[in-house]
Amino acid sequence: MNGQNLSAGTTCERLRRVLREDRSAWKHAVWIGDLAEQADAPALVRERERLQHFLEHHLEPHFAKEEQEIFPMLAERGFVRQVEEAIRQHAELRRLRARLAEVSSGDEGGMRAAFDEIARQLRAHVRYESSFVYDDLKLAEVEEYQEDISMLLAEVAGG
Ligand SMILES: [Fe+2]
Ligand SMILES: [Fe+2]
Repeated sequence: MNGQNLSAGTTCERLRRVLREDRSAWKHAVWIGDLAEQADAPALVRERERLQHFLEHHLEPHFAKEEQEIFPMLAERGFVRQVEEAIRQHAELRRLRARLAEVSSGDEGGMRAAFDEIARQLRAHVRYESSFVYDDLKLAEVEEYQEDISMLLAEVAGG
């Protein structure tokens, strides 16, 4: 990787948006994990709707953006194996979302297990992506990118 890989600012801006969404995904993963550990049955039922909303309306568009805009660019730059693995992880998280939708509200154990699995897979996924997606952004001489990247890296390292 070298500075020339950084094409126009649009690439940086796109990466930066994705980076911010990844930071948000990380925070959601922590929230979901806390619920799996601590929420009682009524709270799980209540929060399940918010979780479904997040997965369908925030995480899914984020995945789609990565798959359509970011991953092809990264594959071209040599991250073929990493992109394949990230796409596999997306499929796994989509499978877990479908499973969560099928768990009956009366099944506390099933819901808790679904929350827990989503939290763990999502954390692992954000951590995995943070190891290669932002490589180019690190080279950009824009202080804000550096700040956002260091914050994400600190967050995923701490979890
Ligand atoms: Fe991501
Ligand atoms: Fe992703």
